[in-house]
Amino acid sequence: MAGSTNGLIAITGAAGLVGTGLRLQLREHGYRLVLLDRKPITDCSEGEQAFLVDITDQAAVTRHLAGCEAVVHLASCTTDAPWSEQVTLSIEGSISLFEAARAAGVMRVIYASSHHVVGYHPRSSVLDEHAVLKPDSRYGVGKAFGESIGAMMAYKYDMRVLAIRIGNVNTKPIDRRRMGNWISWRDLGQLVTIGITHPTLCFEVVYGISDATGRDYHNDAAYALGYRPQDRSEPFEAEVLAHDPIPATGSEQAHAPSEMTKGGAFSDNEFAGSSARLLPRLSDRKIFS
Ligand SMILES: NC(=O)c1ccc[n+]([C@@H]2O[C@H](COP(=O)([O-])OP(=O)(O)OC[C@H]3O[C@@H](n4cnc5c(N)ncnc54)[C@H](O)[C@@H]3O)[C@@H](O)[C@H]2O)c1
Repeated sequence: MAGSTNGLIAITGAAGLVGTGLRLQLREHGYRLVLLDRKPITDCSEGEQAFLVDITDQAAVTRHLAGCEAVVHLASCTTDAPWSEQVTLSIEGSISLFEAARAAGVMRVIYASSHHVVGYHPRSSVLDEHAVLKPDSRYGVGKAFGESIGAMMAYKYDMRVLAIRIGNVNTKPIDRRRMGNWISWRDLGQLVTIGITHPTLCFEVVYGISDATGRDYHNDAAYALGYRPQDRSEPFEAEVLAHDPIPATGSEQAHAPSEMTKGGAFSDNEFAGSSARLLPRLSDRKIFS
């Protein structure tokens, strides 16, 4: 660890995939960590404390957040489970977390959103943070709710909130779709650290992607906050295309929602619509000037 010189940061959902990778990144940035999850964490390093807590238990979360300078909110439903689970974990869970943070005086939240909030946008469109929401799933709707409560908390109560629409965090992009939304661990660590430290952050939505210039997203909002990704998709393109070639024009695969949209398998799931409606539309972007 580069010395625990920085403050105390809480992570919800710390036992999961992203939490486990992020712990390492934030320790390397010198933070001490409060790890919250309903699953036990038994491998704490120096500077880490873990607590078994359900994020819907607002009073308990408030107690554990005391003294933290920011909270990274990862705990949520992470599948396209039935609505009841989205409501309990992603909606009630986020309300509980944001209210607990406010009660504990922790006025910075880094919220793990997802590219699935815009998953029904055409794969070919390049979106910025003003793109209209088009969730591809119940999961995406639950994630979008978290962005909304984050915005309200920022403007109504002076919280500082960074919503990161994470693409796919991994050591490298694993298929063509992920070429446009992959983020490396160290780039995710950098983005989260910006959320923890940026002096004038109010409410921002950024895409949690490494450098994938010209592909799915314009990440101007992240760059404006100082984000400078260290990793790029480009060098992996040949390797990816070798096992995931572009489908032939007119083929069934080319017309599948998973291929036409940014959401992949989430877009296919229970799809009973018309593929023609997934083509680019004028309403894809709202432009305010
Ligand atoms: N993995 C990715 O590439 C990716 C991409 C986009 C967004 N995200 C978001 O990042 C976050 C973490 O994703 P992940 O891949 O690590 O998921 P994960 O399923 O591996 O981890 C989620 C963790 O949250 C915990 N949790 C769930 N409900 C809880 C509750 N009520 N109380 C306490 N703990 C609870 C679970 O026990 C689990 O440890 C999620 O919000 C997810 O939507 C992840």
